[in-house]
Amino acid sequence: MNVTVFGTGYVGLVQAAVLAEAGHKVFCIDIDEGKIEGLKKGLVPIYEPGLTQLVERNIATSNLQFTTDARTGVEHGEIIFIAVGTPPDEDGSADLRHVLAVARTIAEHMGEPKVVVNKSTVPVGTADKVREAIKSALDKRGLQDLPFNVVSNPEFLKEGSAVADCTRPDRIIIGTDSREAEEALRQLYAPFNRNHEKIMAMDVRSAELAKYAANCMLATKISFMNEMAEIADSVGADIEQVRQGIGSDPRIGYQFIYAGIGYGGSCFPKDVKALITTASKLGLAADILNSVEQRNHRQKHYLLDKIEAHFGDDLSGKTFALWGLAFKPNTDDMREAPSRVLMEQLWERGAKVQAFDPQAMEECQRIYGVRGDLQLCGTKESALAGADALIIATEWQQFKAIDIKAVTGGLKKPVIFDGRNLYDPKQLARDGIEYHCVGRPSRQAAQ
Ligand code: UDX
Repeated sequence: MNVTVFGTGYVGLVQAAVLAEAGHKVFCIDIDEGKIEGLKKGLVPIYEPGLTQLVERNIATSNLQFTTDARTGVEHGEIIFIAVGTPPDEDGSADLRHVLAVARTIAEHMGEPKVVVNKSTVPVGTADKVREAIKSALDKRGLQDLPFNVVSNPEFLKEGSAVADCTRPDRIIIGTDSREAEEALRQLYAPFNRNHEKIMAMDVRSAELAKYAANCMLATKISFMNEMAEIADSVGADIEQVRQGIGSDPRIGYQFIYAGIGYGGSCFPKDVKALITTASKLGLAADILNSVEQRNHRQKHYLLDKIEAHFGDDLSGKTFALWGLAFKPNTDDMREAPSRVLMEQLWERGAKVQAFDPQAMEECQRIYGVRGDLQLCGTKESALAGADALIIATEWQQFKAIDIKAVTGGLKKPVIFDGRNLYDPKQLARDGIEYHCVGRPSRQAAQ
């Protein structure tokens, strides 16, 4: 099928490449000329495993093309995706400016019936707003009888495994009241709907809310576990044992119950906030979501409290090695990353940071520029050199097997503050390392 995707961010670009790989003819449109010029040459602006190869392969077959020319895009696509950003507004609600601008652009160039699909995470009722925007622009052009459909088709991909998630989705939600539009999307997704039925057709508003409910439920699991971790810390229990104990109950499950230093990224913080705002505009009290958000804010300071308990609140003259800048492994994304709160708080207290991340160093440089209290180090070992303690903020695979000699040899004194519970506290104590983590009793090094 001929498909057009507006927006070449995480969602748009991955979706476009995966559809092209399945044999569809896909045009990607973006207003950022530099980005489009780069993409035409196969230069993918984000780090996402497997994406560059996928993009290159499909450029070569011409299944995937890029342009800033909206007219070309609109003429090409029988199905047109809107996959542009919905950043938080001042009051926390999703800013629909970009989504509605694309809707108007589609209407400006439309000359035949189209199925317009909302991929961006948008508040309930947005499909109606998109429909109105297209309708009024068509009216102005004297095309009031030109038919079109607006469908909600939320995306559930995760950064770091976006290509795999999109290629093998666990569900495909199609929100529409039009049989015709549903059929078009069923045909589009047929290559991804093999083995067992993954398509769920529902009304538009349920599809829109399903996306928020999914992210908010996952964020709730995390904040709940973080709260349990604090309790575990105080009563001398081990949250890792608790996690295994409760995860074995299939009603709870093992996934997304890892305590840590809070969730970050481009989705959870924004979507929780947006749903709270939606609820409050409706006069509803979002008690649970408010608590989820508050706990997450607090959790990002969790390690800092432990650092202050150890070193005192004046950290001037101290240097900290920091492993992990990205909000989670396998991405270079630092949006709402706990590492940022940590670094900023450490700087405020006069400390220096020697940081290493396998992918997010450039991004860190872009955000913070060059500053005397931040040194970006080429390896995890060099970040340790002469530091007063090691802080771990992201659970990259390469941090999981600890090199005891490198840590004890590199740091002034072997002290670790681990926000991701990567190591066995007893083992580290035996190895002579003082180990502070989340929701597990702190261990002094064995003498
Ligand atoms: C999320 C959703 O998982 C995805 O379905 C949606 O489409 C977009 O938002 P993403 O933001 O890429 O995806 O990351 P995810 O893997 O869900 O992790 C989010 C955050 O939660 C990370 O900061 C991670 O470190 C944290 N997390 C996750 C925990 O602290 N504990 C856990 O048990 C799981």
